[in-house]
Amino acid sequence: MNKKKALVLYGSPHENGHTKKALLTVTKPLESYYTFELVDSFKENIHPCTDCRFCTNKGQCKFRDFDHIDALFRSCELIILATPVYNLSFPAPLKAIIDRTQLYFNMKTKLKINPFSQKKEAILIATYGSQDKSCEELIFKQIHPFFKLLNATVIKSVFISDTDLL
Ligand SMILES: Cc1cc2nc3c(=O)[nH]c(=O)nc-3n(C[C@H](O)[C@H](O)[C@H](O)COP(=O)(O)O)c2cc1C
Repeated sequence: MNKKKALVLYGSPHENGHTKKALLTVTKPLESYYTFELVDSFKENIHPCTDCRFCTNKGQCKFRDFDHIDALFRSCELIILATPVYNLSFPAPLKAIIDRTQLYFNMKTKLKINPFSQKKEAILIATYGSQDKSCEELIFKQIHPFFKLLNATVIKSVFISDTDLL
């Protein structure tokens, strides 16, 4: 059987922390159906978007450090975003990657080019230390525009709370 391509966008600095454990519970049952490409945001060191508007004319970013992630975004059929919650949001290295997709927003709105005409699926995984359930709604709301831009429908979300107690 031909396996589908899944991109794992990983937001934790920890190799074996709470987020990785939650991620493995999701990816293990999918191993027969998908190949996984991992983008480890803390190792990537992606430059933040500077809103320089280069992409509004050129349809590409002036910083070349995103090219391999761009290729993975375009080719994957499933995006799994797995992250810890930092200050009710995303860790900065993951946020930098999310912000760099402004390239696609500008391509779509200014250049009328949509690289994501094919539908994708998405899985959202987030872990957080507190019992504050509002984290879940906030994370969902913040990630919604990103998934929408990539034409990805969230088919599953996994939230693990109270990790400070574990
Ligand atoms: C800088 C920082 C900010 C955090 N902010 C929050 C927060 O706003 N709400 C919360 O419930 N937990 C917060 N946490 C706790 C983490 O979300 C929690 O420990 C998470 O499960 C860590 O996952 P990991 O083991 O994969 O790194 C924060 C932790 C750090 C280091």
